[in-house]
Amino acid sequence: MCGIVGYIGTRKASPILIDGLLKLEYRGYDSAGISTIENGYISNMKDKGRVKNLYEIPGIDDLTGTIGIAHTRWATHGKPAKENSHPHMDNSNLFSVVHNGIIENYQELKEFLIGNGYHFISQTDTEIIPNLIHYYYTKNAQNENRLLHAIHLACKDLKGSYAIEVLCMDEPNTMIVARKDSPLVIGVGENENYISSDIPAILSYTKSFYLLNDGDLAKLSKDSVSFYDMDLTPIKKEVKNIEWDVSACEKDGYEDFMLKEIYEQPKSVRETIGSRLKKNEKVNFDDIGFTKETLSNFNMIYMVACGTAMHAGLAVKPMLEKLCHIPVTVDIASEFRYREPLIDEHTLCIYISQSGETADTIAALKLSKAKGATTLAISNVIGSSITREADYTIYTHAGPEIAVASTKAYTSQITLLTLLTLYFAEVLESVSADTIDNIKSELLLLPEKISEALKNVEKVKNFAHKVYTEKDIFFLGRGTDYTVAMEASLKLKEISYIHSEAYASGELKHGPIALIENGITVVGILTDPNLVEKSVSNLQEVITRGAKTLVVTNQEINKENYDEVIEIPSTHPLISPIISIIPLQLFSYYISKEKGLDVDKPRNLAKSVTVE
Ligand code: G6P
Repeated sequence: MCGIVGYIGTRKASPILIDGLLKLEYRGYDSAGISTIENGYISNMKDKGRVKNLYEIPGIDDLTGTIGIAHTRWATHGKPAKENSHPHMDNSNLFSVVHNGIIENYQELKEFLIGNGYHFISQTDTEIIPNLIHYYYTKNAQNENRLLHAIHLACKDLKGSYAIEVLCMDEPNTMIVARKDSPLVIGVGENENYISSDIPAILSYTKSFYLLNDGDLAKLSKDSVSFYDMDLTPIKKEVKNIEWDVSACEKDGYEDFMLKEIYEQPKSVRETIGSRLKKNEKVNFDDIGFTKETLSNFNMIYMVACGTAMHAGLAVKPMLEKLCHIPVTVDIASEFRYREPLIDEHTLCIYISQSGETADTIAALKLSKAKGATTLAISNVIGSSITREADYTIYTHAGPEIAVASTKAYTSQITLLTLLTLYFAEVLESVSADTIDNIKSELLLLPEKISEALKNVEKVKNFAHKVYTEKDIFFLGRGTDYTVAMEASLKLKEISYIHSEAYASGELKHGPIALIENGITVVGILTDPNLVEKSVSNLQEVITRGAKTLVVTNQEINKENYDEVIEIPSTHPLISPIISIIPLQLFSYYISKEKGLDVDKPRNLAKSVTVE
């Protein structure tokens, strides 16, 4: 994971670098550092802890350099400590490097460098990079493009993933960056250029961006950027203009990004629907334009993703199977990629990723492409890696999601997948127009119904206050409610650190009920009219054994049986997860607040998991 920022221009680099790092802290926050070039020398200031600790480093305010690189770390190799923090320098202090990713062959390269007289002070994989650059730099002293060549040769030796920025004392007006399987964007200003791991971190400076592909290198000065492919052949790139609003990346008066993003869901879901769905018209996916013949060719659909995005896939599987009559398998990307899945040219593989940068999801996509499957990416980030690998891409348009725990991306992913399902069903003519129209009308009502569900906040807050000291919380549901239980349980674990489990209510008797004892908290989700009676019976079984219960429902049930009942608007059962998750996102949020935790940056987690 980790976040990197860079600046080259006419202004003091350090405040811009620190500002960018603060916005990238969601990618990692156990240590931070910056390097700038000061009167011909590289200054390197870093320490463990949060980015704001950088302000405590003596002399940091005196930096005047107008070129610099910066890093916020999520430790993989070597514990959070000053010596393991980036930037890392080579033995002769000629180069400074920040790196996001993992160098898998670093041991081998380290031994090679040690054999050539180099020594190491950190336990990181990154420290080999500046030294390897130094090795090639000194070997090719005559080369006219010496720095670029040395970095290119070093990159060719690296196995694994990297996005790197390099400063060199000999060339104080040049910065070189490279990427492979880790994100990196270049923001273009007037007489200045910016680098970042993602767009929002530098959106307040520019809305014009270059996106780098895997294997690309770029050489920057304050007023130029030259691009090269992995063979060092010069390439041309188009500037992309990003429409996101800067305020979308600010807290806008909310205490935390997560709360803001929860409350943004009426808007984000409306944006996802966008112009794809209009009254009395067919669902519009002209951008992918699948014909009946193409869709009939698929005898299997895979939805592959990680974390919350995988839960969005699970929520939609029943609808996709029911309306399109194609078997659907939802898989965890890190499992899928290593178990030789049975896929071929008759398989459609849908990859869901908010960031579009999740390493396992991208690797799974590459695998299915190689096996001849058709690949479709669903992402929230324009131009992200996954969208550049897939045969087809559709965007959720949920706006930037900053909090580590995903909320609005999940509801937008389900909304987009629902639209896609209806589109497939219309093209395939696999169900009656009435069935489709029914779901379409409910989709258009979603923004209003999400707003309604958000009104339960006080009840949710009160229940959170009663149970925030619990050690275990269980979530139960059947059908799509079970998929919501899984997402609600994940949310709770992520931000409250309370152990929690989600079970299909019918499985309760096959083991988990042994854990139910007096006073334990159980959350039930009951939205499917066909399954409500069975779910009520399952909840009765835990109540009999002394459980405290919170129920989220849109069904007629006897409320007196439960400690708290959150009533949400009714909708078509196949899309109910988009509404029923809302109070449960708030539930996790308020438990985390009661515990005094950092909601937006939970321990050990990062928003974008760009390593395996
Ligand atoms: C991380 C994040 C989760 C996210 C998952 C997949 O674990 O903390 O919130 O659901 O990655 O991320 P993606 O960007 O691929 O949707």
